[in-house]
Order: sequence, then C-alpha cells, then structure tokens
Amino acid sequence: MCGIIGYVGTSDSSVRVLIDGLEKLEYRGYDSAGIAYFKNGEINIIKSSGKLVNLKNKVDLNDNSNIGIGHTRWATHGNATTTNSHPHKAGKFTIVHNGIIENHEELKKCLEKRGYVFLSETDSEVIAALLDYLYKSEKDMVKVIEDAKKMMNGTYAVGIICDDVKDELYAVRNSSPLIVGFGEKENYIASDLSAILDKTKKYVTLENDDVAILSPENVDIYKDGVKKSYDVKTTSYTDDEVSKNGYEYFMLKEINEQPEVFKRTLLDYVNTSYSNFLDSMPDLTKYKKIRIVACGSATHAGLVGKQMIERFANVKTEVETASEFRYNPLFLDDDELVIVISQSGETMDTLKALERAKENKNDTLGIINARESSIARESDYVLYTNAGKEVAVATTKAYSAQVLVLTLIAMNLAYKKKIFTSDEIRNILTEAKEIPNKMEYVLSDHRYKEIAEKIKDQNDVFFIGRGVDYALAQEGSLKLKEISYVHSEAYAAGELKHGTISLIENQTPVVAVITDDRIAAKTISNIKEVKARGAYVICITNDDYDLSCADEVIKVPKTNDLFAPLLSVIPLQTIAYELAKIKGNDVDKPRNLAKSVTVE
Ligand code: AGP
Ligand code: GLU
Repeated sequence: MCGIIGYVGTSDSSVRVLIDGLEKLEYRGYDSAGIAYFKNGEINIIKSSGKLVNLKNKVDLNDNSNIGIGHTRWATHGNATTTNSHPHKAGKFTIVHNGIIENHEELKKCLEKRGYVFLSETDSEVIAALLDYLYKSEKDMVKVIEDAKKMMNGTYAVGIICDDVKDELYAVRNSSPLIVGFGEKENYIASDLSAILDKTKKYVTLENDDVAILSPENVDIYKDGVKKSYDVKTTSYTDDEVSKNGYEYFMLKEINEQPEVFKRTLLDYVNTSYSNFLDSMPDLTKYKKIRIVACGSATHAGLVGKQMIERFANVKTEVETASEFRYNPLFLDDDELVIVISQSGETMDTLKALERAKENKNDTLGIINARESSIARESDYVLYTNAGKEVAVATTKAYSAQVLVLTLIAMNLAYKKKIFTSDEIRNILTEAKEIPNKMEYVLSDHRYKEIAEKIKDQNDVFFIGRGVDYALAQEGSLKLKEISYVHSEAYAAGELKHGTISLIENQTPVVAVITDDRIAAKTISNIKEVKARGAYVICITNDDYDLSCADEVIKVPKTNDLFAPLLSVIPLQTIAYELAKIKGNDVDKPRNLAKSVTVE
C-alpha cells in the first residue's frame, strides 16, 4: 500500500531515482502519484491522479536535482485526485506520508486559526503545516519533528524536505514501515527495499519513533531526540527477484514458482537426512490452545493450518481475522499461543493484533515472508516462509509457503507429542519430496483457460468444500474476486442448502473441492443438489470418485492429506488468473487493492 521514495546525493539524478523508485513500488497498489524536488533552489512539485505513466508524462527526467521525495498514494482520506496526491507543501515544508493521522481534523482547526489554508482533503497535509508552524519557533529539525510527533495520533511514515536546507532529507516513522538505504555519496528513504534494490543493498529499517536525517555523506538516526547507533544490513535480495522473468504477469510467475518455494521452505526446516526436524522449530507442546490471527489469504492459510493442527497434533486451534481480534473480547488463555501470519510482515491489523496479544502476555509466533519486517521483529518466535519477493497483489506462492509451514508445525507437534513415530515422520517427509513434481504436473494442465472462458459471462461464482476443502474454497473465492472482479462466495458445502442455494440458476458456476476422503461422499451429494438446480459444476479432486454429475473434473495427484491443499490450490489460483486475463484486468495490480495494507 502506498509507497515512499526519497533521495539526497551529490549527483543530479534525483528525478530519475524518484521515478525509478515509484515504478518499483507500483506493485504495492496506489491510485495517484507525485514527486517534489529542488531545482535551481526552488521546490518543484508534480502530481497526477491515476497510473504512474500520467505522472511520468508530466516530468522531465533530465531536470537536475540532488534531493527529492516521491509517493504513490492509496487514498484513505479524500478522493484519488491530483490535488489530494502527495507531496503536500505548507510554508517551507514539503512532505509525503503513508498511514493515517487520526486527529487531523483537530490539528487542522488549530492550524487554520494560525493562518494555514488547506488545499487538499487529506489527513496528510496537516503534517506539512504542523512542521512549518513548529519550525517558526524552533530551528533544530529533530526537535521540530519530535514536537510534531507528540501532537499527531495515528500511523505514519513521513519523508520531509525543507526549503531552508537543500541538502538534507528527513524521515520519521510510527507503525508504517520505512527504511533508509546507503549509497556512495547518496542516501535514500523508501517504504520497502524493492524501491532501491538496483541502487544499493545496504539498508537500515527504521524503528517506531525513529527520526532520520540524511545528507549525501551521512545518516543520523535519533530516538527520543537522542542520536543512536545502528547497524547497516546488507540484503541478499536481488533486483532480478522483482522481474517477471519472461512471464506475462508476476502472478503467473509466482504461481509457477510454487514447486521451488516448496523445496526451499521445506529445506529450511528439514535437512535431507531428516535429523534436524525436531529442533528446527520451537517446542510448542506446552501450549494447550492456539489462536491464529491474520488477514485475507493469510487467514485462509490459517484455516488450513487449523485443520492440520487439530487433526494431526490434537491441539485446539481457532482462527480469527486480525481486524476483529483487535477489538473483540480476547478470551485468550494463559497457555494459549498466538500465531500471526503475514507475507509482508507489515499488515497494520495483524501488527496491532500481535501487539495486543503481547500486551496480554501471551507468547507469539510469526509466520512471515518478509525478513526484517515489523511483525517479524516483534514476534517472540519467527518461522520464515522462503517464498522470495512476492510482487503480484494476489498472493499465491506466499500463501502456499504459509500452508506448508503450518503443516510442518502440525507434524512437528505431533512428533514431539509422540502421536507420530519417527518412522511415520520419515515416510511423510519422503513423500513430501514428491510434492514439487506433483505441483509441476498440476501446473501443466491446460484446461484452466478453457474453464475460465466457460464461466466468463457469469456474475456469481460459488466455491464449496468441507473441512480443509472449505478452507481452500475460501481462498479460491478470494483469489477469483480480487483479480477478476466477479462476485464469488465460499460456502461449507453442507451449508449451501440453508439459504444460498436459492441463488443457483442455470449455468451458475460452482467450484467444488474434494480431497478429504472421509467426507467426500457428503460433498458429492451437495454437488448433486446444485447440479439439479442447473449449476455448472467444476470439481477439483485427487481421487477416482464417480463425478459424472460434474461438468468439469480437474484431477490433481493423490498425496498424503497433509500436503493435499498445496496441490488443489493451484487450479483455484490459475482459474482466477485466467479469468482476470480474459476480462482484460490488470492482473498484478487489481483495482482498489494494495499489496501491503499498512492502514487499519
Ligand atoms: C491476498 O491475495 C490478498 N491480497 C490479501 O488478502 C492478503 O493476503 C492480506 O492483505 C494479508 O497480507 P499479508 O500476508 O501481507 O499480511
Ligand atoms: N492518509 C493519506 C491520504 O489519504 C495517506 C494515504 C497513503 O498511505 O497513501 O492521503
């Protein structure tokens, strides 16, 4: 969600760096963009609503400038207009902001009384005015920013430039992510590393309340007004990881990377002789219950995890949406482990849910893809997914890596609790080695496009399943709606007849997932019920059930129940992808959505 890039250096390439950076940040999702830079001592602000290309058309990349800030905005306060786009300027201060200033109305009123006139409907513009107002009586920039921080409630990552100091860039963060990048005689700020990966691999992640002052040769970071020391890290990510490698869309590339991601993530927890499996995870046997908290697809991965942990490790597991968990009564037992799941590690609701669990003194475990992210840093234990950079807004490979890690947690717990013997674990892990090949087989099925063609004119699609297959149905439904913009809903297969079946008409697509042999017959009965009402039934299964009632059967290879979801999710992802493509949608950057949702 929303991106920040800032540059200060001795070269005159600021404008190019800002536009390059914004292009790299496009994947996060945005609805307008803008840059501000000093040119011949004067501030130049260029903004545009819509795609970045609109901004690029207004910008002269050859403008010489040594300092500037840029932004892709995902509107929270005020429409996605050019005026509301960032940067915003008030007096001598120009800012870009990610997040929400909750008390902006109050601050606005105070500042209006002091003569400030606001041009935009955003909450962000008050930051510029507040800094300018404070600067009138205090010239020490760290103090000015510290004072502003005390007056602002909410979440923010802010990049700041001041008319009076043309070789310094300022930054401050509270909850919203921000990093500082270190180059040769040039330094950067960015909301994530991908914006500057082609310029430098050296970075520091700012912590909450840090204030940074960057000049071409130096970076100082302050906490509570006092300069602090910091370690510059070097990332192993390469710019290649954020390229499409010949695929038409990142989403397709990422779907196809799943076999490789499976191998990598598995190897992180199990060596080839399986000898480290017991120790590769913290001992979770002391927890009598588990609460999984996450958002969107990560919640759906949690729902698969619940099925695995309850069935195989016999530990009661509940799954809650982070935005609900934050404000609902907690009812967390003392011996309950809270697992948070997040690809980005920056999702605001998940981060705040984690903080609430910690305040309640519960142990927390993060299943995270982005290293060095806020959630990874704040969780008591972290188990990383090794999915690599995921660029498409619709998650695919990170979701399946999350499911794998949860499955490994279930197996590890079952092993430690002696529910599984070492021979059983050995056999399951031997079977796991076959999963990448089986994934390749599922990926090579050529009927996904054909199926998407058949359902392309329908307004509603239903996904059904039972148990773990219901969890998959929920993910399939989200995938479809977020990128194809076709309305879809997921139902527990047995629940459809309690109301929703009234929506089934001639040719309404119903996608049924059947991989759990114990309840397959029940789901097949539910398929017959919708078929009798005219539904067009697409069935994803891994067994030889009599599915002559279905219109399409996608057969994925049989495997141990522990890994079955990792195969059956692929057709769901790919049908969604093909449908979005047929509709002519921007598959990687669906409308209104953002990759990393850093606001509430
Ligand atoms: C998935 O396709 C979505 N884009 C979305 O639901 C996502 O999974 C959710 O926002 C959570 O993101 P996170 O994993 O980065 O926390
Ligand atoms: N709340 C701010 C706005 O609506 C910032 C949004 C963002 O993070 O992009 O302008």
